[in-house]
Amino acid sequence: MPAIQRWHLRFRLFLRGRKYRRILVSSLVFSICLFVFSALTALSVFDRQHNNIVYHYVQRQDDIALLSATFYNTSKSFSNNSLVLLFVAHQIFHYKHSSFEIETFAGNETTRATLRIMPVIGQMPFYCKWVPFIAIGELDITSSAGVRLISGEKQIELNLREPYPEKHPVVACFSPLFLNERWQLLILTAQVYSHYGAFMHFYVRSMITDLFDVLKYYKHSRVVPWSGIHLGKESASGPGFRPDFELEFRNQAGAMTDCLLMYKESASYIIFPDTDDIIIPRLGKNFEQEFSQIFALFPEAAVIAYNMSQTDIHAEISPSNYMVDEVLTSVRFRGETRWGKVVVRPERIDSVWIHKSYGIRDGYEQITLPIELNSALHLRFWNFSETGSLESKIDIPLYDPLLTKNSNQTPKYRSPQRPLMSNDDLQEIRKSFQEMTRTLGEIYLRLPEFSIYYPLIEKCYDRIFYNGQRHATCKGPEMCDLPSFPGVRCVNVNSSVDSFRGDNIFIHLQKNWFFEHSTNGCSI
Ligand SMILES: *[C@@H]1O[C@H](CO)[C@@H](O)[C@H](O)[C@H]1NC(C)=O
Ligand SMILES: *[C@@H]1O[C@H](CO)[C@@H](O)[C@H](O)[C@H]1NC(C)=O
Ligand SMILES: *[C@@H]1O[C@H](CO)[C@@H](O)[C@H](O)[C@H]1NC(C)=O
Ligand SMILES: *[C@@H]1O[C@H](CO)[C@@H](O)[C@H](O)[C@H]1NC(C)=O
Ligand SMILES: *[C@@H]1O[C@H](CO)[C@@H](O)[C@H](O)[C@H]1NC(C)=O
Ligand SMILES: *[C@@H]1O[C@H](CO)[C@@H](O)[C@H](O)[C@H]1NC(C)=O
Repeated sequence: MPAIQRWHLRFRLFLRGRKYRRILVSSLVFSICLFVFSALTALSVFDRQHNNIVYHYVQRQDDIALLSATFYNTSKSFSNNSLVLLFVAHQIFHYKHSSFEIETFAGNETTRATLRIMPVIGQMPFYCKWVPFIAIGELDITSSAGVRLISGEKQIELNLREPYPEKHPVVACFSPLFLNERWQLLILTAQVYSHYGAFMHFYVRSMITDLFDVLKYYKHSRVVPWSGIHLGKESASGPGFRPDFELEFRNQAGAMTDCLLMYKESASYIIFPDTDDIIIPRLGKNFEQEFSQIFALFPEAAVIAYNMSQTDIHAEISPSNYMVDEVLTSVRFRGETRWGKVVVRPERIDSVWIHKSYGIRDGYEQITLPIELNSALHLRFWNFSETGSLESKIDIPLYDPLLTKNSNQTPKYRSPQRPLMSNDDLQEIRKSFQEMTRTLGEIYLRLPEFSIYYPLIEKCYDRIFYNGQRHATCKGPEMCDLPSFPGVRCVNVNSSVDSFRGDNIFIHLQKNWFFEHSTNGCSI
């Protein structure tokens, strides 16, 4: 029987068959169609990205932007005489290059070493092409020797830096600040973190000058320039390519890993917050007590993530009416939580990303702190008063992130109804704030009531994130065109780059990051 007839016969049998079989088969056909349709839709998005990755994989030449080379003559966590490079490159770079060759020289003697390359982000970010990497290896030298990176026949000399030596029980590495003018938030953050005993490390890309001067007032802090990434004239990616447009969250993971590497030997614990994430210790009087308690509770932990509790907050807009303690007592929980911010034991990890470390050493893990124990306050929803009319609230709010007080939830999730902080702590924060305003006088009073950049960025984000276009691209503030504002004093960062063409690889050394004062406003 010819095939076509056979098929015809079967079809007629099917039509005569029981009803349920027909329904079964038709729904099967429908599901297959639906599956094929959704797979095709997904593939067309995925394909573009995938083609992109394949294209970069087969491309013969690569660019890397080298941020730093940190040398550890002795170390708690690396072997003695270890060198760690921090660089940014295309997300598939480590599939093409697994290591760097290094040559150390002292006088006329040279020795070779290999640095193993590891990505800071352990999964492929879908939309942003570039990510940070570290390369780690042990050198056969003392710190007085010079070090060269070798690529084929060529070599480039590296400037080595050393990790910070002075000891701190707790360091807070804040993600880089740009176009920063929200002093009501930054002052609150600085007061709370310094009160509970954190040494604060701030990366600044741009900030209004008066706020910059306020930030420098805090003795237990370090304010360092953080630059955008630049490629030299000659590059594999071509002249139109700007790495800043292709780095996830403005290279935040690069900054966090940089901070980890610099405090690796000197800090017992490191917190990685944004300036609007505040941790108020609940298991001890200060950060050191809190963190030693929670790491004792979870001895296998390298990283502990604090969930974030969304909060509303009220503040006065003018410096003469603003009181930091009134802002703290205005905190109201929304009953919503978010993915966490991390606290780490630096000797147990080698790199860190925003909510997670992918560089955890063998035998350790990341755990999430139960929200009943503590969580970070996400100071997300601000209500500014322009009139000085906010009634001051005397009562310290209760720690009740899930709003269980008025609900009949199971006792397991019922938070202990204790105040957010003690009255003594609140009074001390108030006193140290008043001392700051007295010392800085005019500088503090000059802080602006109204934001220039915040509304512009908000409008720009509405345009680039919510207009439904170009979903498959990496997005950030670099895409916002900001006008210059003559008369607005701002601290920006300037930098230079030294490029070098190796064997199929262009190495762009990021050099001389420094603050530059401008009277034409801030730049990104
Ligand atoms: C390591 O370097 C630090 C800082 O330069 C120095 O103080 C220390 O003596 C060095 N240690 C060794 C063992 O060379
Ligand atoms: C690293 O150097 C320190 C100080 O010189 C020494 O005490 C320690 O034993 C060394 N560690 C290793 C693994 O060699
Ligand atoms: C290396 O330098 C030392 C003195 O600095 C010299 O005595 C020695 O001959 C040199 N070795 C070579 C191979 O050039
Ligand atoms: C805390 O965050 C984790 C993810 O890190 C999430 O799985 C968990 O549900 C959160 N807990 C609460 C109470 O929101
Ligand atoms: C903001 O604060 C003002 C003054 O206290 C109050 O009238 C207003 O309801 C508040 N708005 C929100 C959204 O909480
Ligand atoms: C950066 O600094 C260099 C050297 O001081 C200067 O020539 C250049 O104009 C500066 N760039 C900007 C954007 O200010």
